[in-house]
Amino acid sequence: MAQIGESNEEAFTHCVAEFEAAGDIADGYEVNVSCPHADKGGILIGSDPDSVRSITAATRKATTKPVIVKLNAGVCGLEKIAVAAVEGGADALSAINTIGGPNPELSNQFGGLSGAPIFPTTLDAIARLRKVASVPIIAMGGIRGAGDIRRLETIDPTMFYAIGTALGGLTSDEIREYFEVLEKDLASGTDDATGMTLNRMLMEYHPFVVSEIDVYSDTVRVIKFHERLEADVDVGQFVFFKVGNTDSKPFSVAANDDRLELLVRDVGPMTHRACQLNVNDVVRIRGPYGHPFSLPDDRLVVFAGAGVGIAPVHYAAQVHKGPKRIFIGAVTADELVYLDSFRSLGETSVSTDDGSAGFQGYIAQLVEKALGEEDLANPIFLFCGPEPAMRALDEVARKYAPPEDIFHVVERYTSCGIGICGKCSIESGERTCVDGPVHSAATFSPGISHRDLTGKKVRYD
Ligand SMILES: Cc1cc2nc3c(=O)[nH]c(=O)nc-3n(C[C@H](O)[C@H](O)[C@H](O)COP(=O)(O)OP(=O)(O)OC[C@H]3O[C@@H](n4cnc5c(N)ncnc54)[C@H](O)[C@@H]3O)c2cc1C
Ligand code: FES
Repeated sequence: MAQIGESNEEAFTHCVAEFEAAGDIADGYEVNVSCPHADKGGILIGSDPDSVRSITAATRKATTKPVIVKLNAGVCGLEKIAVAAVEGGADALSAINTIGGPNPELSNQFGGLSGAPIFPTTLDAIARLRKVASVPIIAMGGIRGAGDIRRLETIDPTMFYAIGTALGGLTSDEIREYFEVLEKDLASGTDDATGMTLNRMLMEYHPFVVSEIDVYSDTVRVIKFHERLEADVDVGQFVFFKVGNTDSKPFSVAANDDRLELLVRDVGPMTHRACQLNVNDVVRIRGPYGHPFSLPDDRLVVFAGAGVGIAPVHYAAQVHKGPKRIFIGAVTADELVYLDSFRSLGETSVSTDDGSAGFQGYIAQLVEKALGEEDLANPIFLFCGPEPAMRALDEVARKYAPPEDIFHVVERYTSCGIGICGKCSIESGERTCVDGPVHSAATFSPGISHRDLTGKKVRYD
């Protein structure tokens, strides 16, 4: 099912035409005329019955497949809009979309309230829609399990249901198990699946005060805070970091012993603001995110980190109490972050692209050269860096260990961080933010393709 969120009739039909031309990709189309996040459209067009009728009719003409119109409960005259969608040719309605007011976290600065708190609004909207619309309805908005579904069934026992936010933070395996349990709940009158959804506040920020800043180069800093993350942090886990009242971005935990430390490279607006921070400035941080992963202390671990990939490698090397061999790489000597700390943790070798320190060349070349001269007993490998570098490291490591013992910390574009948007997904379909970010080479090959900021798959050169 392809969901289209656009701002006018032409744009909706253009998207449908693109999908139809691309082959048998979509079984049908959900016309989202109600998303408060959509720039120049969304809930604005979804508030006007005439726009909804004409957009639905145009989409209907562009395909023979089912057209479902998605409505928002936050509009005036919901019933009139539903009737307009049906008059335009909608095969079904879905409701409700996220609600809420101004929200600087979102790209369109508006909306974002979803999950259990909006379920009463969903119940009310579905009851109103059922009275005026003869087409099937897909109910959504805060459904957590069979208990909620039974309440909706009192309105219409033939309803369809969609579950979204309740799955936030669950791994792919947990989601599969959730639906197996839900099927049983629906058959047997129980409500066990609801208890499998995460009840903690995944999106809650905490204030952190900058205590110290280590400046490595014009663009690279380690920012240290007075506070530490109170929750246990596992290898590869990351936080969302927000400077001021704008969007937040993901950063690997570089240290969290007595205080949290983040390594930041200035590459764009948010990281630029982070690099302008001063001691005593207050920022907001939430997390940690990512699936728990740890390294066995009785095994030798070969760590290799390049660029900002040094951050999770530093954390992993700090918490791994067993034998270790460490490789770090940077473009120049200035950016060999945490070098002294790495040296205090174990034997450390460095590479720089320009030869200003250590081996001149790429980190994979250094690792290959060093390991060629050493006899390693049953090693595990943990890598992080740009994916082309991880690909080269992966090829070297396969000479010394099976893929199950080679691990990559994957830092794909990450928007939601809780498994909802799919932007961070790897080729297996796993989402790095909840199934990773640590993935074994048995299921993940770095440096082949990734998804860009729009979610489109892009091959590495
Ligand atoms: C799990 C995870 C951990 C990360 N840890 C760190 C860290 O410890 N230190 C650090 O400096 N950065 C880290 N990053 C990358 C960091 O999140 C981005 O640099 C940041 O989001 C850029 O935000 P911006 O607003 O400054 O720039 P944007 O305008 O958002 O991006 C600037 C440029 O960087 C590119 N870019 C942004 N994010 C990524 C990405 N994930 N992969 C490839 N290219 C990207 C964009 O395409 C653009 O060209 C991590 C990313 C992930 C997913
Ligand atoms: S699914 Fe949204 S960032 Fe991972």
